[in-house]
Amino acid sequence: MAPTPARLVVLVSGAGTNLQALLDACADPAYGAQVVAVGADRDGIEGLARAERAGVPTFVARVKDYTSREHWDRAVADKVDAFDPDLVVSAGFMKLAGAAFLERFGGRYINTHPALLPSFPGMHGARDALEHGVRITGATLFVVDDGVDTGAIVAQVAVPVEDDDTVETLHERIKVAERAMLVDTVGRMAREGWKVDGRRVRLGR
Ligand code: GAR
Repeated sequence: MAPTPARLVVLVSGAGTNLQALLDACADPAYGAQVVAVGADRDGIEGLARAERAGVPTFVARVKDYTSREHWDRAVADKVDAFDPDLVVSAGFMKLAGAAFLERFGGRYINTHPALLPSFPGMHGARDALEHGVRITGATLFVVDDGVDTGAIVAQVAVPVEDDDTVETLHERIKVAERAMLVDTVGRMAREGWKVDGRRVRLGR
């Protein structure tokens, strides 16, 4: 009998192309994972529409609907928990996880970022790398901790900056490499397991 696929909950705030790459990969049973739910911090985004088209349950938790950021954080943690995930993937989810969320999902909450961390953390990884004038940037998948894009690194991919790049062309080129890295690494985590040892993440059991 095939092993039970790992349960993924994916969090999104926008276009959801990374989510789509995971949904497409999960269509193959050999991938070893399934997206069991997609959560968002806002309505009306393409990421949610992608989940709905794939028949995946969705939930939305908007910060402004809660009395405090802590209350919101606990609510998101509860909603994610209800789907009993093995791994929670932030794929363009533009909110920082709080203490309650990390208490429950620490070590199995990963985030993909459009720069080679620890360079250019924050909301504008592609723009900040372009403005700094680096010739190589890329994307980083890391295990979320209580800092801003400071967690232990699972995988990285390098992307050259071209002379005529704009923020948009650079970010789009990063996203092509980022999606491949995300799909490859999440699949390996699902099939082989992983271990966080200080700053080092090792795939495999
Ligand atoms: C991705 O490039 C992701 O790395 C970035 O948002 C994009 C989402 O694209 N996330 C961050 O910048 C987080 N700091 P998508 O909605 O098409 O998957």
